[in-house]
Amino acid sequence: MKIEVPKEKALRFINSGNLILVTSAYKDKTDIVTVAWHSPLCRKPPLTGISIAKSHLTCEFIGKSGEFIINIPGEPLLKETVLCGSVSGREREKFSEAGLTPVKAKRLVRTPVIGECAGHIECYVRDTKEYGDHILFSGEVIYAEAEEGIFREYWDTDGIKLIYHLGGSRFTTSGKTVDMRL
Ligand SMILES: Cc1cc2nc3c(=O)[nH]c(=O)nc-3n(C[C@H](O)[C@H](O)[C@H](O)COP(=O)(O)O)c2cc1C
Repeated sequence: MKIEVPKEKALRFINSGNLILVTSAYKDKTDIVTVAWHSPLCRKPPLTGISIAKSHLTCEFIGKSGEFIINIPGEPLLKETVLCGSVSGREREKFSEAGLTPVKAKRLVRTPVIGECAGHIECYVRDTKEYGDHILFSGEVIYAEAEEGIFREYWDTDGIKLIYHLGGSRFTTSGKTVDMRL
């Protein structure tokens, strides 16, 4: 037997990409936002999409600067990840509030990476599209790096537990790797 699920809750069926922390900057200010709604979009060139509410400071910063960075937190950063998704950079400076370290990115000049995260994808905004109260930014990957020993072609699930948002205050983390070839 299957039960009807409210339409808005149906998004939780597929709300399953690992949580990312997106950094952005404008003038001398930086911001961090937690994002569950994101997806790879294209392999050649490598493009990725992030869906950001128009009301977020991040939306303003990315719109003005034309760049953003995706940072990959592991389970030890769960509390910081929830914090960055619960307060706005309009009121609080999240790097210091969360005790995270801004580190100069390899290619982008203004936007920093989060030192404590296991991987970073530096992107230039390629396109924007409005969907109701969100803006989908597609970003072209210009540089990516990951912690040595944890990413070799794939994430090593013994080395990092990626975080997934189930909805509300519930999270899960990545489990064991299974290699399936037909
Ligand atoms: C687990 C989690 C996932 C979230 N995913 C998104 C998302 O995909 N898109 C979005 O716009 N906001 C998302 N949010 C909400 C923002 O992270 C949050 O409103 C944040 O405080 C906005 O910060 P800013 O105003 O500094 O940009 C999420 C929050 C949490 C806790």
